[in-house]
Amino acid sequence: MSKICVIGTGYVGLVTGTCFADLGNRVVCLDVDESRISRINDGVMPIYEPGLEQLVEQNVHSGRLTFSTNPQEALANAEFAFIAVGTPSGVDGEADLQYVRSAAESIADNVDHPIVVINKSTVPVGTGDWVTDVIKKRRGGTPLEFSVVSNPEFLREGSAINDFMNPDRVVLGSTNREAANQVAQLYLTLRCPILVTDLRTAEMIKYASNAFLATRVSFINEIANMCEELGADVREVSLGMGYDRRIGHAFLDAGLGWGGSCFPKDVKALAHMAVLHGTHPQLLQAVMEINRNQRRRVIFKLRKALGSLNDKVVGVLGLSFKPNTDDIREAPSLEVIHLLLNEGAIVKAYDPQAMENAKAMFSRITLCENPYEVADGADALVLATEWNEFKQLDFERICQLMRRPLILDGRNLWDANALRGMGFTYYGVGHSTQANGE
Ligand code: NAD
Ligand code: UGA
Repeated sequence: MSKICVIGTGYVGLVTGTCFADLGNRVVCLDVDESRISRINDGVMPIYEPGLEQLVEQNVHSGRLTFSTNPQEALANAEFAFIAVGTPSGVDGEADLQYVRSAAESIADNVDHPIVVINKSTVPVGTGDWVTDVIKKRRGGTPLEFSVVSNPEFLREGSAINDFMNPDRVVLGSTNREAANQVAQLYLTLRCPILVTDLRTAEMIKYASNAFLATRVSFINEIANMCEELGADVREVSLGMGYDRRIGHAFLDAGLGWGGSCFPKDVKALAHMAVLHGTHPQLLQAVMEINRNQRRRVIFKLRKALGSLNDKVVGVLGLSFKPNTDDIREAPSLEVIHLLLNEGAIVKAYDPQAMENAKAMFSRITLCENPYEVADGADALVLATEWNEFKQLDFERICQLMRRPLILDGRNLWDANALRGMGFTYYGVGHSTQANGE
């Protein structure tokens, strides 16, 4: 049993701490946000992540998992301190390291025994060395025996526990092989490949992975736009490409583009790093531009069908950046809604989990109780997130409720021909409207 402190109880920290406790370690999760910790201690999760509440409860009950806002208490006796705080975009697109700095300083201030500091936050190449400097500087003349290991996290929101427990790989980067091996011990029971590299390489693996996945999505969206003009169907193009084992099926679903708390900020941060170091990130720039354009295309399609959007009622189904999460950070729905409001449209919306987060963000849209309330009186319905709950709607009822039966299926979730058969005008992404008889 190892003693672990996880700093930050967001999507990554809370899942990491809980899963390490479940693997038999003694874990204290530390956060500066008192209300967050007090809610967790009351059994209320600060985020929606399937299976998390139950796993937290089990491990708290077993006595292996506790939560604290007191760094001295949380770090006392910890052999490992995982930094899992946010690294949002700064003004120029760079990663803002203020929370990583405060976490490193809190380790420097509260630890007086040998410790391995592990960077799980996604941080620019070179940050591991920087964290070492921050801790040394903060200690002044007082020595501390510590090493920094980079251990980027690859979990996805919505399947975070499963991703943590069944990783494709664990990456560990350090200048101290012994420290990396100690961290490797924590992951041995997961029986996955463990890649040990130097610090900077590990940090780059994380950015390169996210940027590559975002590139695949932008690539298929560019192909989708061509398919619309050329009469091909991108869904079958993806399938046909994916059977090639060199390509694979994952991350080839065309839609409204990628959002979330990570791809947008990480692609931006990688491009920023490139410019800062004198290289030209032209592919990354194009990947971001294609993504922005994918949202604008919703407006073009609606204008084509409805003319001016001024005073038109547009219903949006799904607000989270993808299904099974309440996270709306950089969600495609947000930009679509902003563009609609700029056009003078009246917007109604519903999401199974993200309503609380949406309430805090929008005062000018009507948040509804269910998809039917969204459809009631609408001139168009836009599907922004492919929640399971939206797969089997009562479309006969929706058709009757809408002022105009127009659907823009931004995730290719529904059967175009069936909807057209019911009298809807249907637009998907990347399949030609002419080919379907319009
Ligand atoms: P988050 O914003 O959900 O949570 C961060 C938490 O850290 C907050 O609760 C905040 O109060 C806390 N915090 C900030 N400073 C602190 C300090 N000094 N001491 C203690 N707590 C502090 O963040 P997240 O989504 O979990 O992301 C964390 C990092 O992991 C980011 O770098 C992100 O890029 C990376 N990452 C995220 C995901 C994901 O799916 N969200 C996946 C892989 C990697
Ligand atoms: C992503 C990565 O998949 C994780 O490996 C990584 O750890 C994480 O970022 C991170 O660094 O935070 P996540 O943001 O949770 O995970 O979500 P994804 O499932 O990757 O989806 C990202 C976005 O791409 C979503 O908006 C999704 O709708 C979109 N997407 C994904 C598509 O439009 N098409 C696809 O084929 C796949």
